[in-house]
Amino acid sequence: MTQMSATEAATEPRSTIRLSVNGKDHVLDVPDRKLLSDVLRQDLELTGTHVGCEHGVCGACTVQLDGDPIRSCLIFAASAQNHEVTTVEGIGDDPENPADVQQAFIDSHGLQCGFCTPGFITTIDAFVNENPHPSEEEAREAISGNLCRCTGYQNIVKAVQRTAELRGGCGQDCCDREDTEVSQ
Ligand code: FES
Ligand code: FES
Repeated sequence: MTQMSATEAATEPRSTIRLSVNGKDHVLDVPDRKLLSDVLRQDLELTGTHVGCEHGVCGACTVQLDGDPIRSCLIFAASAQNHEVTTVEGIGDDPENPADVQQAFIDSHGLQCGFCTPGFITTIDAFVNENPHPSEEEAREAISGNLCRCTGYQNIVKAVQRTAELRGGCGQDCCDREDTEVSQ
């Protein structure tokens, strides 16, 4: 969140915007330059979206816009109108019934402090939707824009492949090998 003086805040242009988040429509009166990450956290109380660097570097604030992962700290909330925003709460919000990608993190021990995890969850969910049979190399590439200071990434890579497994893909290099055999 960018700090500003009380005078600046009072004179800042505002607009009424309509946002669709996790399948629900919201009408909000917000400053034109308010970031999507701040609107999600402050106005909609969806605090699962974390804010780390605020500069598009760490990936903690990643949400999906029409199914594609984006940095919510790099886009004004007003720009997300006419798109469907999905946060980590929209992927799974029930500890008793985690989404497959969340279960994959549990199974793979893919988190420690958990600060980075919502960004990984939204990134990996979108990636495995696009690539149901990721190789380890592809899994590494998919998460290369998200930073984690705790885990060393190995178990997050496993969580990518475990997600694929839970969705019915093998999540291993065997898919590539089968492709190779077929083409020979
Ligand atoms: S907080 Fe958005 S990329 Fe770091
Ligand atoms: S689990 Fe702590 S930053 Fe990733």
